[in-house]
Amino acid sequence: MKAEIIRQLREADGYVSGQQLSERLGVSRTAVWKAIGRLRDEGYQIEAVRNRGYRLFGASDLLTETECRDVLAGCRLGNPVYCLGVTDSTNLQAKLLAERGAPEGALVIAEKQTAGRGRRGRSWVSPPGGGLWFSFVLRPLIRPSVTPMLTLVAAMAVAAGIEDATRISVGIKWPNDIVLSGKKIVGILTELSAEALETHYVVVGIGINVNIASFPEELRATATSLYLESGVCYKRSTIIAAVMKRMETYYDAFLQTTNMERLREEYMSKLVSVGREVAVMEAGNERRGICEGIDHNGCLLIRDADGNVGRVLSGEVSVRGIYGYV
Ligand code: BTN
Repeated sequence: MKAEIIRQLREADGYVSGQQLSERLGVSRTAVWKAIGRLRDEGYQIEAVRNRGYRLFGASDLLTETECRDVLAGCRLGNPVYCLGVTDSTNLQAKLLAERGAPEGALVIAEKQTAGRGRRGRSWVSPPGGGLWFSFVLRPLIRPSVTPMLTLVAAMAVAAGIEDATRISVGIKWPNDIVLSGKKIVGILTELSAEALETHYVVVGIGINVNIASFPEELRATATSLYLESGVCYKRSTIIAAVMKRMETYYDAFLQTTNMERLREEYMSKLVSVGREVAVMEAGNERRGICEGIDHNGCLLIRDADGNVGRVLSGEVSVRGIYGYV
């Protein structure tokens, strides 16, 4: 009912009376009044004027369950949605839900993480207010060996979702960083629960620096936000909805072949390293060459000085001009 009231108030040009709301929702005026009270408790600014009704005001950028359910209505991925105020890590919470049988699509969003996790055991700075910190559960019927490609699929969904919601064009740094102006605006951490040949579930965790106005000194050279690059504050629920919608499309395309065949071209059109010099650290050895894109299995292709093309399965890749690699 709360999501429907918010939708009615948003669509209205001015006030909506309690009577109108109760008729449209098929509930009593007292029930409407109580729901309005709960929405105010969640942070919505709703004005009530005698003989006129209710009006939504203020550009609230809320990540409440009401808000998220509304923007994700009809989405397969993003349902059910759990909005947490403060949590340790949405990846940890999504894994707990998955262990307890949560279905594919279950989504956990937090306003703040106290133990945000990054790749390679790093931590992820997750302050409240300006970021989107979320994780969702997938249950693909695929071999565990192909699940690393889901991280590339997620990167495509985030890049396209950000563009849909903000019109800002972003790039992908293999395998799954999203970059803007040579700095990182998104990190993705994919975690897997599997046996030798069977995937139980995958948790995809995404951190998007949306309206963050400043970063700690040690991150300033490598991290940025949509706000810092454009001067515009974006509504976070719109961005998460756009990302989850794109994820559905790309995930389905991936499942048809369980490789990057149908997505490779589009992924490469966003890949910032194509045609540029890259350096890859693999098991302590550095390999340099020109990036030629990815193959059908999502491996990075690098042409060395002798003209031989090698594949990189995983590793830390530096791209000239990105994150200060000169
Ligand atoms: C990286 O190191 O680039 C990956 C960062 C992933 C951060 C996100 S924020 C939401 C989710 N919860 C976590 O603890 N980590 C991921």
